[in-house]
Amino acid sequence: MRNIEKPIDKTLEDLGVTQPDEVATLFAEVRNEFDLDADKEYIEVLWKEFRDSWLGRKSGVLAHITNNWLKPASPTLKPAVGAALNELRAHVEAEVERRRVAIEQKEEQWALSGALYDLSLPGVQRPIGSHHLIRQVFQQIEDIFVSIGFSVVEGPEIETPYYNFEALNIPEFHPVRDDMDTFYLDLPKGAPTPLLLRTHTSPMQIRTMEKRQPPVRVIVPGKVYRRDNPDATHSFIFHQVEGLAVDSDITFCDFTGTIEYFVKQFFGPGVKTRFRPSYFPFTEPSVEFDVSCIFCGGSGTSPGSGTCSKCKGAGWIELFGAGMVDPAVYGFVNYDPKRVSGFAFGMGIDRLAMLKYQIDDIQVFFQNDVRFLKQFP
Ligand code: DAH
Repeated sequence: MRNIEKPIDKTLEDLGVTQPDEVATLFAEVRNEFDLDADKEYIEVLWKEFRDSWLGRKSGVLAHITNNWLKPASPTLKPAVGAALNELRAHVEAEVERRRVAIEQKEEQWALSGALYDLSLPGVQRPIGSHHLIRQVFQQIEDIFVSIGFSVVEGPEIETPYYNFEALNIPEFHPVRDDMDTFYLDLPKGAPTPLLLRTHTSPMQIRTMEKRQPPVRVIVPGKVYRRDNPDATHSFIFHQVEGLAVDSDITFCDFTGTIEYFVKQFFGPGVKTRFRPSYFPFTEPSVEFDVSCIFCGGSGTSPGSGTCSKCKGAGWIELFGAGMVDPAVYGFVNYDPKRVSGFAFGMGIDRLAMLKYQIDDIQVFFQNDVRFLKQFP
């Protein structure tokens, strides 16, 4: 190509070409030059250079020929130059493509023969994620309850005050609403009802009973929101599993038996359980459910420091609230309180997970720190 750089930079007139057969000779030289160039061994990068040096839109050989030979050619020479150029272009394009295909095939052969790639080397490792610990605990709880006949339902995280409070027997101005001071949504004026981020999963008790007739046995895993200031045990977003069982003959014994069964499955058969009287507007009687301290085995003491710091010496840890469904609640869903009875419970999953896996700061669940996440593959 070097020695045609000069002719292709000049016009035919400058080269003294006046006859069509001289045009043919000139093109034959260029083609010869191309064929020599095309005959070299190419790898992909060099092939690109080769292609551009001939076909490049601005400075490829064919572009020079178009500009310097074809465009300024005299009318007598133009047809011959045009025809010769087309023929040359077809030849160049076909050869350039043939080279590309050849390179591709060669690379494939190398790869297969092991010359270029060592197929026995370990591949690139792409780590696969795992379920977040909270999700894993949800699944453990679901498995336990599903195995004794409960089904899993989910509900909206944005609720109306009716479902979040009123239908759970928490009228406006009831003092327990203070504990659940919550996030209300900014709605346009004239919106039919205020909306809020649910403060607990209990609204799904109502939504479920509205839709289904007894027997009802459901658990409701989900996120809940409260205006709590973040610290080691509080977060404005956390997780609960609600439970509800309603039928014609459910007793307090069914209730305690179910809860105990669950806790022993979840923490292991060694834990002791106890119920304490408590108060919730939607259960009567209401209980607070405790397990023997998982850290000190219920003794209230720890070998080093004397008193167990987790249960503060009590030997018990408060786990969750529960109770027999208050007959007033049945009134909101058109169940006959004389014919049905049942129990409900609501547990904080973050708290259960912290106890089971000995985690002392709830914030780690929300920080997405892989060093934490990796510990629970
Ligand atoms: N909803 C209650 C809370 O978030 C927990 C609760 C207590 C749920 C007693 C229940 C129940 O279903 O029976 O504090």
